[in-house]
Amino acid sequence: MSARTTVASIKAHLADLGMPGSLEVVDSLLEKLDSGVLSPAEAMDQLLAAHTSLRRERRLVAAMRSSRLPSIKRLDSFDFTFQPSIDRHQVLSLHELTFIERKENVILLGPAGVGKTHIAISLAVSAAERGKRIYFSTLSDLVLSLVEAEKQGRLKERLTVLRNPSLLIVDEIGYLPVTAGGTNLFFQLVNARYERGSMVLTSNKSFKDWGEIFGDSVAASAMLDRLLHHCHIVNIRGNSYRLREYPGLSLPQGIAAAPRRGRPRKTLQDPELLPK
Ligand SMILES: Nc1ncnc2c1ncn2[C@@H]1O[C@H](COP(=O)(O)OP(=O)(O)O)[C@@H](O)[C@H]1O
Ligand SMILES: [Mg+2]
Repeated sequence: MSARTTVASIKAHLADLGMPGSLEVVDSLLEKLDSGVLSPAEAMDQLLAAHTSLRRERRLVAAMRSSRLPSIKRLDSFDFTFQPSIDRHQVLSLHELTFIERKENVILLGPAGVGKTHIAISLAVSAAERGKRIYFSTLSDLVLSLVEAEKQGRLKERLTVLRNPSLLIVDEIGYLPVTAGGTNLFFQLVNARYERGSMVLTSNKSFKDWGEIFGDSVAASAMLDRLLHHCHIVNIRGNSYRLREYPGLSLPQGIAAAPRRGRPRKTLQDPELLPK
């Protein structure tokens, strides 16, 4: 086979395999191979990398359409030095996403502006890039959608839709109180996903205050019982990144006081964080 026929055959294979990213770079990689700029292994690596990076990009674009992710945030733009209470190793290893395979949950706790939503979105982005189905909502929007669905007699369908994604992100637990009906519906959702699909939740309130958020400490305890059964807790104690230009400013705190040195305490044993 002549060199030209071989190249045509490689391109036909790439087209047949649905690898447009690789198809786009194959000519330039072959040139670099011929001129000795790249070794054969490097060229092969770059050919495959072009495919996976385009696939990641496309998956993310598709997920952005259907998942209601408010923005794209990644860990590479997260400044860990600003938030020394975060166990960097824990956050990095959560991004390997084995917690999704194991149907475990992640709860990010901390006051406003410490990066809870940033990390939650970054986990969602990583999951979407790996082809996982994700769905993002604030707690109040989620509850509203459940209440609406119930009113219209579509609760079962709505719960099924929310049970299906591999990862459901529920942001901002604690900013707004939930009605009794809303608590009941959210509990049904937590129950529906229990040991079936992962959730990432963020809250500015300690677990002992969840009874107040949900207006019912028994329901909050039952919910936490399920959520915490297989759960990774990232407890962030520090200052708001939004207000980093105003170092002297002190705000009313949700659960954290001044930044603490060292790693956060193991929170499940922390009586302050357990439900009443
Ligand atoms: N450590 C950090 N490094 C870089 N950006 C950060 C960091 N913490 C927060 N941010 C940014 O600050 C803003 C507020 O963070 P966010 O995650 O929304 O806070 P929270 O959800 O805890 O209230 C966002 O734009 C986020 O990207
Ligand atoms: Mg937030």
